[in-house]
Amino acid sequence: MSSLDFIIGSKADLPEKYLEQFFLMLQDNSRARFPVAPYDLDFYRNFWQMPLQPEDDELQLWAFENDVLVGFGFVSWKIKYENLHIASAQIYVLPAKRLKGFGTSILRLLFQALPPHIETLSIGALLHSIGDSFLKKYQEKFSFVEIINAVDLSVFDLKEVQAFASSERERLKQLGYSFVEIGSYDYLAKFDVQNYVRMIEEIWNDMPVEDLSYDKVVITVERYKSLIDRFVQLGNKIIGFVAVESKTNKPIGLTKASINKSQPYLAEQDDTGVVHAHRGNGLGLALKYQLLEKLLADPSITQWFAGNALSNDHMLRINKLLKHKEIGRKVVYEFHRKDWHRI
Ligand SMILES: CC(C)(COP(=O)(O)OP(=O)(O)OC[C@H]1O[C@@H](n2cnc3c(N)ncnc32)[C@H](O)[C@@H]1OP(=O)(O)O)[C@@H](O)C(=O)NCCC(=O)NCCS
Repeated sequence: MSSLDFIIGSKADLPEKYLEQFFLMLQDNSRARFPVAPYDLDFYRNFWQMPLQPEDDELQLWAFENDVLVGFGFVSWKIKYENLHIASAQIYVLPAKRLKGFGTSILRLLFQALPPHIETLSIGALLHSIGDSFLKKYQEKFSFVEIINAVDLSVFDLKEVQAFASSERERLKQLGYSFVEIGSYDYLAKFDVQNYVRMIEEIWNDMPVEDLSYDKVVITVERYKSLIDRFVQLGNKIIGFVAVESKTNKPIGLTKASINKSQPYLAEQDDTGVVHAHRGNGLGLALKYQLLEKLLADPSITQWFAGNALSNDHMLRINKLLKHKEIGRKVVYEFHRKDWHRI
């Protein structure tokens, strides 16, 4: 293996002359890790300018061979709220420089650089990809599988979708529910914000984590607002529907999708959830039909994709009814501190 030099630090430590090549590498990393086209380079340029969230900390690492940037790694972890013992990382090596041990060197250095309170490092890859082979060499079993499903919106008949969405609104009205459309910030004006954030927290904590060693999340009003702010600053527009219990006016379920300005044709499914007390009324499918009707109203949106835990039978069933087909699987491996010396 030829020798490498490294910079380990924060975003500001990468000399400017490497930035554009680094953005291309970030984009290629995304292509290797996810079965949907990556964002354009402006997305990464913008992302690079954005400050860290107050609850996050991170380390960036770049690998150079004779002053040529050949790979990177980064790792981030929470310093507030939950999962304080877990970090997550990504590693990338230029295609021409692979299988020379560079990826392993980057992983080893990330382990060495992590603060002592971090016990677990999680890293994801596309199932059966090169990244999966790399991670499997060092950890035989993954802890989480996410199925990525997608549908081409041209398969739907607008009139049929409108008719079903409308009949579901009527059926659920009889059961004491209504639907409210939301954009990025409407939750602040349309709902009691405490109630809204409590619903989000319940829904997030209900998402299967399979064998990952994750804690329950803690969502405060301030934290939720800053998550949405960051999401919007990354160029995302949110479209969604909230299910409301008519007698209390409380939000009890929602579905949202986001469209990034870099890919106006693509709707990425975000949260869908119904709080426990209101399950069993078909609200999940009804909510998604409201969203589908809205997506079809914009002819520039042609694809819709969603990622769900393999064990999330309810959501996968709903997405099947909505004609989604699997386009790939993401797997997440956990590396526990006691095993890091093996790498
Ligand atoms: C994953 C990645 C970082 C590995 O970088 P690398 O420099 O090739 O890794 P190494 O040379 O240290 O490989 C270590 C081991 O991983 C396994 N491995 C890596 N690439 C492999 C491949 N294409 N096929 C089979 N096994 C592979 C091998 O077991 C290898 O050990 P060996 O050469 O002794 O057999 C690189 O392929 C990459 O950048 N992929 C795109 C990004 C990505 O998918 N990242 C996901 C993980 S964060």
